[in-house]
Amino acid sequence: MSTVQPPLTSPFRIGDVEIANRVLLAPLAGIGNWFVRLQARRHGAGLAVSEMVSSFGLHYRNERTLRELLRLHPDEHPVSVQLFGQDPEVMRSAAGIVAEAGADLIDINMGCPVRKVCKTGAGAALLSDHELAVRLASAAIEGGGVPVTVKLRSGLRPGGREGFELAQRLAAAGVAAIGFHPRSAATKHKGRPDYALARELARRLEVPMIISGGLETADAARHAYEASGADAVMIARGSLGNPWIFEQLTGSRASDPGRDEVVAELLWVMDRAEEHLGAERAARYLRKFYPWYLERLGADGATAAALQRCGDLGEARGFVTELSSDFSPERALIA
Ligand SMILES: Cc1cc2nc3c(=O)[nH]c(=O)nc-3n(C[C@H](O)[C@H](O)[C@H](O)COP(=O)(O)O)c2cc1C
Repeated sequence: MSTVQPPLTSPFRIGDVEIANRVLLAPLAGIGNWFVRLQARRHGAGLAVSEMVSSFGLHYRNERTLRELLRLHPDEHPVSVQLFGQDPEVMRSAAGIVAEAGADLIDINMGCPVRKVCKTGAGAALLSDHELAVRLASAAIEGGGVPVTVKLRSGLRPGGREGFELAQRLAAAGVAAIGFHPRSAATKHKGRPDYALARELARRLEVPMIISGGLETADAARHAYEASGADAVMIARGSLGNPWIFEQLTGSRASDPGRDEVVAELLWVMDRAEEHLGAERAARYLRKFYPWYLERLGADGATAAALQRCGDLGEARGFVTELSSDFSPERALIA
């Protein structure tokens, strides 16, 4: 018997939280702060998940973790904050802090393959300790009082199914949804995700399964949604410098953005970064963002490098403004 998959534009629920559509922004370390999430939501994403935040940083009230990583914008609800860590008591405490700060959902990272994270027993290392993984999720559920989701990989090595098995145990323990990235931790972000395995998981789970991996374009995301039988998709690298992907997937845009839209969007990002970090830190932070947007403008690597070399944010804004199609030096002088 085949069931018809709902369109990506239809709402769904994670626990008691209603999500307006099935197109989500994935957690992106060093990137998914409040304004990147807000940007995704402005462009139509149903939910945005934060970059991973250390449960220890929150528990020990690290000032920068609280002020910067836990900063939520009033317009981004519902929002999910992703935590990582390996100590259930610390996770319980961090979940309480996150819920207190206003997060509607908490996600736990059980898929990060980075050595610095795994060597502590967190991230993808949890794929080999299911007991601990379940205790962590239960502690977060108790400590936060909001629905808890877990994002994980299919396994540790190619062909491994530790994540596939763990996802089912977590759902049975009360986890409200699973973010499934069907690549092994050893594969990192390369190679073809195993959507057939994801489909098998979706069939077995009684909670929503959100597919991640290989969703670089709107077409690729639609394909992954269908091939995996997921309840929703999570856009990661496909969103970098391309918030319009959310509009394409939710039906409000058929074409690519024009030049001036891209320039205006980058200027919006620059303004928000300044608001978040102050001009000096924003100027450095934004360097990684520039190539994503300049590529969309058809600029070459040398132009992106020149923008990255700008001495301060004012100079960088001038540089970006000059990339718009209607820029004329005379008008700039009058202004
Ligand atoms: C720069 C970068 C940062 C990431 N940070 C996180 C993170 O903090 N937490 C997480 O669960 N996954 C993280 N991921 C994994 C993504 O959420 C996603 O699962 C992965 O990129 C696969 O999707 P894609 O192939 O469509 O990019 C990150 C990926 C990238 C490229």
